[in-house]
Amino acid sequence: EDRKTVLDHSIKLTYELLIKGLRSGAYKNIVILTGAGISVSAGIPDFRSPECGIYSKLKEYNLPQPEDVFTLDYFKQHPEAFYRFSKEFNKASGYEATPTHYFIRLLQEKNLLRINMTQNIDNLEEKAGINADLFCQAHGSYNAAHCCKCDKIMDLDAFKQHVNEGTIYRCSDEVCLGPVKPTVVFFGEQLNPDFDIKLPLVHSADLLLVIGTSLAVQPFNLLPFLVDEQTHSVLINLESTKKASGGSIHDFESGDANLFIQGKCDDVIRQIIADCGWEAEFEKILPEV
Ligand code: APR
Ligand code: ZN
Repeated sequence: EDRKTVLDHSIKLTYELLIKGLRSGAYKNIVILTGAGISVSAGIPDFRSPECGIYSKLKEYNLPQPEDVFTLDYFKQHPEAFYRFSKEFNKASGYEATPTHYFIRLLQEKNLLRINMTQNIDNLEEKAGINADLFCQAHGSYNAAHCCKCDKIMDLDAFKQHVNEGTIYRCSDEVCLGPVKPTVVFFGEQLNPDFDIKLPLVHSADLLLVIGTSLAVQPFNLLPFLVDEQTHSVLINLESTKKASGGSIHDFESGDANLFIQGKCDDVIRQIIADCGWEAEFEKILPEV
């Protein structure tokens, strides 16, 4: 009865139905798309929130536009802006994973997580104990360093040292001497190859959770369109993404299979866990405070 009711697509998805589907195990293939909003409570600012977002903090770098800090052509000419950003970003690299990351881990323990496609480069998924084959860092990470011109792999520690010293680390090839960057995907670069490998897993979703992202960046913001229209799609976000600029945005506020839960993701997640009666299991995987 439960599975049929929940997955009966002629009725409008509600919060109650979402909880019923989670509690009863009706959802067996949960795909989660995440963005900077899930790491804000860890102390890592997001990009586009007014005032506190990274892009508004970069004003002092007097970039033609804030995204230039992550744009390949701009980096090739002026690598110092990104090096300064990295120094800020890596300063307190001792960030902890958030309750939202641990919720994704809980779904993994329940064998309900099919894949977490993330735009984040902070590695908090790994810190939460999510298995590498169950998440994909579509926009890369700081896990390696390469020359931005000839793609030659360079030493990551040397890159970090240059960032701390405020000097530009250049390619070891005398002819090239291109500035070195981490394997964070810049505008103008190909996505992490892992994205195409894990993309097919998105199709299998019977529940799609989109958490903490403005869905402003292509091609990541096209992922919600990969699930079939009966798949229950839920946005958990501080703001409605309808207003996000750029690209075709999936509308979570209309349609029977869509649900928009406005709020801070950690609060919403804790409510979902409580309503599912999963607190005990959840507390077990949270790190001792
Ligand atoms: N809970 C829920 N949502 C939140 C929270 C929170 N605590 N804090 C912020 N948000 C929401 C914001 O309202 C915003 O809609 O998270 C979203 C963050 O959006 P962005 O700052 O645009 O971050 P993101 O969507 O991850 O950016 C995508 O843009 O700059 C590039 O490559 C970079 O991966 C990044 C990509
Ligand atoms: Zn080079």
